[in-house]
Amino acid sequence: MDEKKALLQVEDLKTYFHTEDGIVKAVDGVTFDVFPGETLGIVGESGCGKSVTSLSIMRLLDEKGEIAGGKITFDGEDVLAIPESKMMKIRGNDMAMIFQEPMTALNPVFTIGFQIMEAILLHQDVDEKKAREMAIDMLKKVGIPEPEKRIDEYPHELSG
Ligand SMILES: Nc1ncnc2c1ncn2[C@@H]1O[C@H](COP(=O)(O)OP(=O)(O)OP(=O)(O)O)[C@@H](O)[C@H]1O
Ligand SMILES: [Mg+2]
Repeated sequence: MDEKKALLQVEDLKTYFHTEDGIVKAVDGVTFDVFPGETLGIVGESGCGKSVTSLSIMRLLDEKGEIAGGKITFDGEDVLAIPESKMMKIRGNDMAMIFQEPMTALNPVFTIGFQIMEAILLHQDVDEKKAREMAIDMLKKVGIPEPEKRIDEYPHELSG
């Protein structure tokens, strides 16, 4: 029988922040696997390192953050060795992050449609008209009523 291979492997991950008050060991030896089709929930008190673990996998840490040890493998590739240009293609296509606090994740000066379309246009070979249709479909999929109208609204016009 074929043994199913993990899609994501995190092994002994250590992510440290270099701050004025010293080193913050935000993640200090985390190991887990995620298999295709599997959903993994990570639970823990505020500040225990859930977001920093996710940001490390996405390679989105700010300049104070450093992956000090461990290994991350995604679809057989060593994530920590992937060049940034390739990482940009992987993010949004193969790996994505839904950030906490949706009200700060969207830019208040652009319509939600513009922001969803921007992501589609960056990652898929479609024209603006098709991207708009896809954005409307996406809003429909997540149960936003009147998506054709809502798409031209600004983030503050939608509820949290
Ligand atoms: N940019 C940063 N600079 C310094 N320390 C940071 C930074 N980002 C996170 N930390 C620290 O890393 C630790 C883990 O934070 P993290 O945001 O991962 O927690 P969390 O589990 O996601 O919490 P919550 O449930 O509140 O979202 C905390 O001690 C936090 O203060
Ligand atoms: Mg968090």
